[in-house]
Amino acid sequence: MPQKFQNLKKRKRFKKSSQKWLLRQINDQFVERAKIEGYRSRATFKIIEIDEKFKIFKKNKIVVDLGCAPGGWSQYAVEKVGQGNVIGIDLLDIAEIVGVKFFKQDFLQEDAGDKIKEQLMLIAHNNHGLCDTLLSDMASNACGDRATDHLRIILLLEEALNLATQILRKNGSFVGKIFQGGSSAEILKKLRENFSQVKYFKPESSRKDSAETYLVALGFKAKANINFLQ
Ligand SMILES: C[S@@+](CC[C@H](N)C(=O)[O-])C[C@H]1O[C@@H](n2cnc3c(N)ncnc32)[C@H](O)[C@@H]1O
Repeated sequence: MPQKFQNLKKRKRFKKSSQKWLLRQINDQFVERAKIEGYRSRATFKIIEIDEKFKIFKKNKIVVDLGCAPGGWSQYAVEKVGQGNVIGIDLLDIAEIVGVKFFKQDFLQEDAGDKIKEQLMLIAHNNHGLCDTLLSDMASNACGDRATDHLRIILLLEEALNLATQILRKNGSFVGKIFQGGSSAEILKKLRENFSQVKYFKPESSRKDSAETYLVALGFKAKANINFLQ
């Protein structure tokens, strides 16, 4: 057993669950890579894999990142699309990322959508106030009750998708976190109605023992009536 692993086991001040989490972090190649490459979270590698497979980011495109803290996805997105083109929101504060407009906000609050739309309008070259890619890696803290946790995740995804149908530009893309066995028939139906391609994707960097997976929807079929300015 590696020394660092043994030392950690000996330390009594960690609860069993925290000890398990810490050991997993220490032995995790993506945690290590995130440190080396200067990313704030191991989650960054999930969006890198998604982008490598589905090509969701291009220079000058506009990205909205829901549930962005601590900021790994936004860091990568701004590298790809350029400064000033990424808007991130989260319940939690984040340290500044140059080129990312962040605001602290509960996405489930009624005014969240309007605030995001206002920010989109402020992007200088963004005439119509729309975006090209909407990301949602939002996950609420598990309360332990499976049914409640499931409902919370579905609600976050549904609300993210609702916003996507209002603010995405034609051919835009949507990425949303979901838990296996957790996608509701309505969400899939809505995705298939609104996008030309809908896929499930579990990145290599998503832990094998986690039920987390992602819905990737490409080719938004903007309808004439989808424009929040109306
Ligand atoms: C898995 S983390 C996101 C990690 C991020 N993609 C990264 O690369 O750093 C999920 C985030 O969703 C946020 N979140 C959960 N519910 C939210 C809500 N209602 N509104 C805004 N953010 C929320 C949490 O605060 C948490 O920071």
